[in-house]
Amino acid sequence: MNKEELFKNLSLIGLEPHILDEIGSTNSYAKSVCLRDGIIVVAEHQSAGRGRFQRCWFSDKGKNALFTIVKNLDVEVYNTFLVNFYTSYIIIETLKDYVGNSSALSVKWPNDVLISSKKVAGVLSEISDGKFIIGVGINVNQNHFPEELQHRATSLFLEDGRETPVEEVIISFAKKFVTMLNLLKMPDEVMKRWRSNFHYLGKVVTYSVYGTDNRLAVVIDIDNDGALVVNEGGIIKKYYSGEITNFRG
Ligand code: BTN
Repeated sequence: MNKEELFKNLSLIGLEPHILDEIGSTNSYAKSVCLRDGIIVVAEHQSAGRGRFQRCWFSDKGKNALFTIVKNLDVEVYNTFLVNFYTSYIIIETLKDYVGNSSALSVKWPNDVLISSKKVAGVLSEISDGKFIIGVGINVNQNHFPEELQHRATSLFLEDGRETPVEEVIISFAKKFVTMLNLLKMPDEVMKRWRSNFHYLGKVVTYSVYGTDNRLAVVIDIDNDGALVVNEGGIIKKYYSGEITNFRG
């Protein structure tokens, strides 16, 4: 990773970069060491990278984009879900420049980003002291995954065999993230843009909510309040928390 280039460009965008060789988790570091508006923490390696639902986030050293942005955002409490949807939309916009066939890019409820049905990026956002701590992991040059992840994880490199400078992806994301923040004042527009990258409407999926796994249903919609609406055995259900686990055709 070209740290000088990264530092210079992130500073030009108006962010305050903390670029680290190794840390437990950029989210945890941001929360405990530098919880200020405009901080961006980037790490080459995380020894305890965190995913959603207390999962680990896997990444070999120096291969991938691992970073956390701290922002004071003017978002109503009941609209905090929007920040996650906004972030996954910005990841899609960023990756369009790096994925030959951009229609292979999609979002999976709530905030995963996929290439051809395999996860290439994830978002873990938290709130502390009124600030959003937005953690993003994008698999850039990862060239293999542990066996248990191989069938559901991918990277830009695994998709087309080309290496991409990690700092370039981070700078590109950060520019878009900062310049499009006004969208957060238009929740329906954020959801509309997110939904245009959601390819599961009308499809049968497995999903997991409230600790119950692999329920089967047809996706009816993603509401403007971020909820997943499904038809499960003829009954319409609406969920605010959980995830689509798989796509069944
Ligand atoms: C998920 O899809 O489960 C969310 C993954 C988020 C991973 C990123 S990597 C940078 C930041 N620091 C962390 O510990 N997690 C997020």
